[in-house]
Amino acid sequence: MLVMVPPHPLIKHWISVLRNEQTPCAIFKSAMAELGRLLIYEASRDWLPTIMGEIQSPIGSATVEFIDPREPVAVIPILRAGLALAEHAPSVLPATKTYHLGVCRDEETLQPSVYLNNLPDRFPEGSRILVVDPMLATGGTIVAAIELLKDRGVDSKQIKVISAVASPPALQKLSEKFSGLRVYAGIIDPVLNEKGFIVPGLGDAGDRSFG
Ligand code: PRP
Repeated sequence: MLVMVPPHPLIKHWISVLRNEQTPCAIFKSAMAELGRLLIYEASRDWLPTIMGEIQSPIGSATVEFIDPREPVAVIPILRAGLALAEHAPSVLPATKTYHLGVCRDEETLQPSVYLNNLPDRFPEGSRILVVDPMLATGGTIVAAIELLKDRGVDSKQIKVISAVASPPALQKLSEKFSGLRVYAGIIDPVLNEKGFIVPGLGDAGDRSFG
């Protein structure tokens, strides 16, 4: 498994805005969306198929390269907080198809449960799949999401995960289960407390985005 923490000052900036408990809900949500824009850009390097074409510019003819619209990236935001991180996906990526997945974590047991599943029965052969979840804490939620994809015939190598903050136990769990997976995180925080919260983390990203 590959884990990338892109070394970009804008990523550090938006993580800092998100960490601040004084950041109001609307700013938190837009900072999360900006962070998502940058992480999606980083994750899409060398990942998008292109096609060549001939066009006329105002001055002359040119050979050009476009993202192939026949091969959209499947974007899977994990509700609720993933909606904020995935907000700019359709503008960063010229061809996307979004499938919502609602997963909530029981506050006592920390076990995930799926309450909304818009995944198709099968994805087209060779699909590129971007799973978007701001927090990888115990890792239960992201593992449940990827297992749903594997049930639909998707190989881990086809999947990239973007996340604002990841914890070492979640990354450990992912690397043990899904060898070809690639994870792009804004930052890795060292501690997971006994309530399953990442420390220092961001708090509850769903509540801070949507109240
Ligand atoms: C949070 C977070 C992740 C999950 C991470 O969602 O957004 O999806 O917990 O925890 P885990 O790695 O320990 O499984 P939450 O269940 O609070 O739902 P929400 O986004 O609707 O607030």
